[in-house]
Amino acid sequence: MSALPAERLQPRFWWSRDDLDYVDGRLHFAGGDVAALADAVEGPLFLYGQARVAANLARLQGALAGVGRPTRVYYAMKSNRHVPLLEAMARWGRSGIDACSPDEVDRALAAGFAAANISFTGTAVSNRDLSRLLAHPELTINCDSVGQIRRIGERAPGRAIGIRVNPERGTGYGGSERLTYAGSAATKFGIYRAQWGEALATARAYGLKVTSLHFHVGCGYLTTELDAWDAAVGAARGFLDDAPDVTAVNVGGGLGLPHREGDRPLDLARWAAILARHFRGRDVTVAVEPGDYLVKDAGVLVLGVVDVETKRDTTFVSVDGGFNLAPEPVYYDLPCEPAACTPRSFDAASWRPVTIAGNINEALDTWAQDKPMPPLAEGDRIAFLNAGGYGAAMSSNHCMRGAFTEMLLSG
Ligand SMILES: Cc1ncc(COP(=O)(O)O)c(C=O)c1O
Repeated sequence: MSALPAERLQPRFWWSRDDLDYVDGRLHFAGGDVAALADAVEGPLFLYGQARVAANLARLQGALAGVGRPTRVYYAMKSNRHVPLLEAMARWGRSGIDACSPDEVDRALAAGFAAANISFTGTAVSNRDLSRLLAHPELTINCDSVGQIRRIGERAPGRAIGIRVNPERGTGYGGSERLTYAGSAATKFGIYRAQWGEALATARAYGLKVTSLHFHVGCGYLTTELDAWDAAVGAARGFLDDAPDVTAVNVGGGLGLPHREGDRPLDLARWAAILARHFRGRDVTVAVEPGDYLVKDAGVLVLGVVDVETKRDTTFVSVDGGFNLAPEPVYYDLPCEPAACTPRSFDAASWRPVTIAGNINEALDTWAQDKPMPPLAEGDRIAFLNAGGYGAAMSSNHCMRGAFTEMLLSG
């Protein structure tokens, strides 16, 4: 085996990878020169790397082989619903879709996914929503409340349904409470153990067959959170004993990825071993519906530097896009690491701590604080990493600064 070049053995940055690194001093992502691609469009640019999504999916499916049960992946399109990406995933035919609104279902169908490969799990699902969903008999619908079960029963007696349960255990990135969907505090998600009997009785009353059990207990969990996740899976498994018709258990999404230097990637083998232990001997398919794990590190948001100015003791680097384009750093403290696209220097001694601020009139609109960056000037570009999930999809038009371009790269 030939030796790797020295710079490959010692990547310059914690986030460097084969498809995301500097080439001749310029940041390249998914085979494209990031600054050059941004120069070709007006304003903020989201770049997505198709090959990275495929690699993330392949890695996850490789790990699922260790579960020892039949498995399925439903991509949570709420994380990124860019049509060319959905079409590519439909063509690959290796995953289904997790949808959470009738419009998402329609977009998935239009992109080429069959209704039988779409799993719907929504919250506050209205009767108007239900009439659109029930038009697709093969769609899996995971009910989030007893009322939703009753209203499906009234409209489609005898149908197969799923039920989302709340195991009262959960976890999220760094144990974050805001990213935990099931725990000691009551959340709006799923049916609690206390209502489980009523939920099953309601289903029975309308001849509904409960074929799927669903839970999703938090977002962004990494290896350090796996013990808590293990406990959540164990608590959710308890619901199975009363539901003999269940043929599929959907363990939700929430698989995390590194956001900060020092974060270790999720230990997928250990994650799969937890599932293997809990579902050994159970005649069920194990489904998983990740969003972030597949797309988040497969996207960057490229913004242009508008001003560099020191105010009191802080150097502000102002960019032409704000937190409204990728709200997770501000909402959930899940940072998008900034990387200068064409650094003037890689010599750490020349880097200075700066605050990178967006163009929204809100005090919280900063991308990074005290972040060592190379010397930057008006017209430079910064790529914000991990912007492939819940960026464009969660963006708003706050201050009427919501415009952006999206581009899917094949590399
Ligand atoms: C029910 C459900 N499934 C899947 C997901 C996807 O989560 P993630 O992108 O963290 O994998 C979410 C996200 O909120 C969710 O609510």
